[in-house]
Amino acid sequence: MPSRRDLLRCAVVGVAVATALGAGALAWSSTLLGEYSVMDMGSGDAHAGHGGHGADGPGGHGAAEASGPGALSVTALTAPDRPADVRVELVARQGTVEVPGGRSIEGYTVNGTSPGPEIRARQGDLVEVVFVNESVADGATLHWHGIDVPNAADGVAGITQDAVPVGGRHVYRFEARDVGTYWYHSHQVSHVQVERGLLGAIVIEPAEAAARPDAARELDRTALLHIYGGQHTLNGRVADERVAAAPGTTVRVRVVNTDQGTAAVWAGVPFRVAATDGHEVHEPGEVDGQRLLIPAGGRADVTVVAPDRGVARLHVGGARSILIGDVSDAEASAPPVRQPAKTLDLLAYGAPAPLDFDPAEPDRSFDYVIARRFGIIDGRPGNFWTINGRMFPDVPMFAVTEGDVVVMHLRNDSGDVHPMHLHGHHVVVLSRDGITASGSPWVVDSLDVHPGESYDIAFVADNPGIWSDHCHTLPHAVDGLIAHVMYDGITTPFTINGEAGNRPE
Ligand code: C2O
Ligand code: CU
Repeated sequence: MPSRRDLLRCAVVGVAVATALGAGALAWSSTLLGEYSVMDMGSGDAHAGHGGHGADGPGGHGAAEASGPGALSVTALTAPDRPADVRVELVARQGTVEVPGGRSIEGYTVNGTSPGPEIRARQGDLVEVVFVNESVADGATLHWHGIDVPNAADGVAGITQDAVPVGGRHVYRFEARDVGTYWYHSHQVSHVQVERGLLGAIVIEPAEAAARPDAARELDRTALLHIYGGQHTLNGRVADERVAAAPGTTVRVRVVNTDQGTAAVWAGVPFRVAATDGHEVHEPGEVDGQRLLIPAGGRADVTVVAPDRGVARLHVGGARSILIGDVSDAEASAPPVRQPAKTLDLLAYGAPAPLDFDPAEPDRSFDYVIARRFGIIDGRPGNFWTINGRMFPDVPMFAVTEGDVVVMHLRNDSGDVHPMHLHGHHVVVLSRDGITASGSPWVVDSLDVHPGESYDIAFVADNPGIWSDHCHTLPHAVDGLIAHVMYDGITTPFTINGEAGNRPE
């Protein structure tokens, strides 16, 4: 319990900061938030676009219209009503997490382990996951990171559902439309629950995987990275992995970065980046003497060809490696390679290919400018992130209409890197610091924006709902680095901080 004096000091700091920064926008954030709806947050930040949508002035966004008569609830935005092709039950528990090869930690498991089971589905499958919360005291959810699920299945507590209480269950249903490497994690008190293990991988394979001409010469392995209490693990173990592969076999390593910071991948042999965030790279070239950086929350499929003799070492995430090749000799090893200083630039990697939409004349164009300043969020003073100069919950609301082509200008004036993650959509990178992308379409759902950088990204608003657009260094999201994309005519019955105890970040 804080003493009366602490509380008094807090209040004095609060008043001083509020006075220094002027009242106005801080009026709301300098008091306790209490229960609120994401529908009441922020204000429109659209510039005038081309498709006949006007600019929304500050304070004039679409929430009021959206909640009016005829508005559709997020709960109505569901997958087609047909039998499931893949059905999985995932049970979350709070308690001790065994970390093979290391020491156990207090955290969360899914079906008894962390990471939880890997889900594999084929493109076109209807996936149905029955989620059971056996003992997670704060409640929990599952979010399908990177998969463009229907909004009702997005798993964000307080926006698309209530957190599932102990003893409760929730069914997630979605069509596995986009092939690729993804992951699932709780989106209730996520900065704690994700860091402590409530997560797993999900891979969507091509419908005709076995029929691909080179399928017999390809192996496929997942490399999920997570740090448990300071211990760097690969697929949950403090150990390297060995993949037996005949010379010339291509091994696709699906690296999943579930941590709070960027992960590096490099090797002593050439490799290729076959996919970023689940999206295939067009004609990926050989990468030699450079490292690949994967943002927090991001994934990359890296292919390595098994060498003629011995093994090849792929470094994943700084502390762990995968040894690929002739592993029959248990001692077979390849010496570690120093991490290259040079980073592969995905802006110019692979060969160009046409996009399936034209971002040249967007219907909406938004700024997402990240900075930082002192202030108070929910009664808590601190040095918080701002978006377009404003502090949570007075952050922008990006209002769109289904079918809009949307361009977003990200800029980072905050002095720290931010892996920006938009739910429910894939974005394509158009340019960085004014330099136009020149390689394969670089499609992501998690994008590191480094200090001083700016990116133009684009997406098609083709998945109605209310979608979080936040930093995936999750403590940053708690400290205000979160905004939302909201479609006209959509409303949510769920609230944050209310009786259901929803705290998505
Ligand atoms: Cu992987 Cu909103 O999160
Ligand atoms: Cu951040």
